[in-house]
Amino acid sequence: MVSEATLSPRPAPPIPYGMLAELTHRCPLQCPYCSNPVELDRRNVELDTETWLRVFSEAAKLGVLQVHLSGGEPTARRDLEQMIRHCVEVGLYTNLITAGVGVTPERLQSISDAGIDHVQLSFQGATAEVTDKVSNFRGAHERKLAVAREVRRLGLPLTVNSVVHRANIHQIPAFIELALELDAKRIEIAHSQYYGWALRNRGALMPTRDQVFWALDVVEEARVRLKGRLTIDAVVPDYYAKYPKPCMNGWGRQSLNVTPSGRVLPCHAAETIPNLDFWNVRDHSLSDVWLNAPSFNAFRGTDWMPELCQSCERKEVDWGGCRCQAMAIAGDAAATDPACHKSPLHAHLLALAEADAATGEAEYDYRRYSVPDRNN
Ligand code: SF4
Ligand code: FES
Repeated sequence: MVSEATLSPRPAPPIPYGMLAELTHRCPLQCPYCSNPVELDRRNVELDTETWLRVFSEAAKLGVLQVHLSGGEPTARRDLEQMIRHCVEVGLYTNLITAGVGVTPERLQSISDAGIDHVQLSFQGATAEVTDKVSNFRGAHERKLAVAREVRRLGLPLTVNSVVHRANIHQIPAFIELALELDAKRIEIAHSQYYGWALRNRGALMPTRDQVFWALDVVEEARVRLKGRLTIDAVVPDYYAKYPKPCMNGWGRQSLNVTPSGRVLPCHAAETIPNLDFWNVRDHSLSDVWLNAPSFNAFRGTDWMPELCQSCERKEVDWGGCRCQAMAIAGDAAATDPACHKSPLHAHLLALAEADAATGEAEYDYRRYSVPDRNN
């Protein structure tokens, strides 16, 4: 029998370097690909300013370097500038992830004065017709263009974020042109990932295999052509891939998410996994959550992996893929991600994708509160 004294101690968890702060779920747009949960947090359960400031201090102490101020729409919080100033004070790099709609030049100036380091602006299409349809907001595109120009006029670095799916994947070349025209330094071309609202809308969003492979070629060609001028980051749709994505670069390894009401999650979709206990910053310090919360330790490292992954040379490359996708498709968060070609469910996943892509479905179930939020 092995005595406790002969067991090597469990390795300390790595230090997280990024934190996604979902300041609110309120948002003027209704994108059907949103990765927020289907049950959105309401304004009356949002953390107050003081608690967020404490969380940012604790994040800096824990070793976090970058904070992504996100939502919903983070500018819906009137105390955003106060939070940015505090992040700057405690030494955090701040990235504002915004949809841009409703952000006036005066507000942008005030956000810039508070010390924001970087702005990431979403475009739902490369043209007004597509942006307005996908976001379900007439005039959204024009407002975004104005915000992008103002961001650059203020001298702030800009990333254009475009989530692509069946209705706009053909616009990838136009998205890249748009980013150049707006003087963005970076564009993120992220294929819709099927969690939250996106999972609900999978039939209307899923691209065909031909579209995906065409898109990969377009991105590769543009990367070479625009090297040094525009950085192109692409998030590949893994339903058609051979290997899964290293989701979050490994569960509980590099980053954490805090929801509007203070639950701390290892990834944005973690709440789709039943029976995980998500600790709240109202009751625990961030470092206590990172080190000790059962939800963070559930799939940290490689010990939890099924034999298929345990014996695979890629186990510390993709960390077994995505736990939430394993839950959604295999019904077991500890299964090998079905996006992996070695998974017994891989053919099933591919068949699902092909069936969805063939539906021709064009109607969206737009993101919204189940009962409209009167405070919104
Ligand atoms: Fe990754 Fe597991 Fe597939 Fe290996 S078997 S490639 S570790 S998901
Ligand atoms: Fe949760 Fe991938 S989205 S692990």
